[in-house]
Amino acid sequence: MIRIALDGPSGAGKSTVAKEVAKKLGIIYVDTGALYRTIGLYVQKKGVDKNDREKIISMLDEIKLDLVFKNGVQDVLLNGEGVGDTIRTGEIAMYASAVSAIPEVRSFLLETQRKIARENSVIMDGRDIGTVIMPDANVKIFMVASAKARAERRYKELIAKGEECTFEQVLQDIEQRDKNDSTRDVAPAVAAKDAIRFDNSKLDKDQTVAEIIKIIKKKTKKKLNKFYKFIKFLFAKIAKLILRVKVKNPQNEVFGKPYIVCSNHTSMADAVVTIIAMKNQVRYMGKKEAFKVFGWFFKAMGAYPIDRKNGDVGAIKKTINILKEGDCVGIFPQGTRHPYENPRDTEIKDGVGMIASRAGVGILPIYIKTKCNKVKIFRRTEVIIGEYISPEEISFPEAAGKEKYKKISEYVFDKICTLGENAEVK
Ligand code: DC
Repeated sequence: MIRIALDGPSGAGKSTVAKEVAKKLGIIYVDTGALYRTIGLYVQKKGVDKNDREKIISMLDEIKLDLVFKNGVQDVLLNGEGVGDTIRTGEIAMYASAVSAIPEVRSFLLETQRKIARENSVIMDGRDIGTVIMPDANVKIFMVASAKARAERRYKELIAKGEECTFEQVLQDIEQRDKNDSTRDVAPAVAAKDAIRFDNSKLDKDQTVAEIIKIIKKKTKKKLNKFYKFIKFLFAKIAKLILRVKVKNPQNEVFGKPYIVCSNHTSMADAVVTIIAMKNQVRYMGKKEAFKVFGWFFKAMGAYPIDRKNGDVGAIKKTINILKEGDCVGIFPQGTRHPYENPRDTEIKDGVGMIASRAGVGILPIYIKTKCNKVKIFRRTEVIIGEYISPEEISFPEAAGKEKYKKISEYVFDKICTLGENAEVK
């Protein structure tokens, strides 16, 4: 599980950035401002003054809020009905700002936010996420931009929407909201002590997303043990020369959560080239017998022994446990090596589907591309890293048991083959 807290003042671009980051990392984006806005909407609809604290507090009993996600897009259900974009007006923003300063409103929303963070990998944006909602977040970012830069962006947006306004008005609104949000007694929008302060005044959206992803990756990268690092370094040098390994799309690698690395399988060297290509440590299983002599070496490299006599059950259980401990594992969907064959023509096993489904993890597809479909000395080997496949993408709710495992394995292997087909080997 990965939890990212993204706090900061209004209009710093948190939601735009969080949406993109969530998509790239395959996690849920939770917009907590929408909850305050929904309460603001309810208050406004009831014709209650936004500064009438007593009345607002007494109305909380009438409100039931639920967060729902459709294709990764969040909506808030207000007493069972989706509010959609009705909470996105300037007027409701002012109501939200007022109700969010009421401690009873904040405690009313606390559990809804914490529950979703407990049960999912999330990037959550708001004002008090790093300080109150997820004080144990893996990464805390406090995103700021100068009031002028934010007003300029907002002004452009409003004009594009055809709304009438002046730049001065927009700037004034932003300054007013900043003041409300940062000077109030309860949960003022201030950075957590361990948050990284990030100013994006001079960056556009894509640059901001790229920088935020960099910060997250750096913060969540698992520390590799020294021996693993050393051997990997040595191997990498040798493999670059002998296997001529070239990595494509290294930016697709995902950090901070466990998943299965799946590739086509043509040679014993496949695990080695994958380990070299990835920054994360990838753990492969090995025959128990091989551990008798070189056990210390394999173990230090993260490999784990499998007793073939006890069949696949032991292997599956062990692999699920390793994933649950937070490590990445490598599995070949084809089960055995298939050199010199087009992977599309080979049979695949259901193991990957079963493990991914039972461990609730996603998959990183990789295609190991060589001439003639076999990794060989002095032959160019391209390791093409595909886009992360999230657990939701392979949830296949309509299928169950073996049928579901098969579907997942086939889906993933199709992605792997497509990666290979779309790439040229030089
Ligand atoms: O991010 P936003 O503009 O949708 O937020 C609406 C209001 O809610 C804003 O004035 C600040 C407040 N808010 C808050 O106090 N705490 C949060 N976690 C999120 C938003």
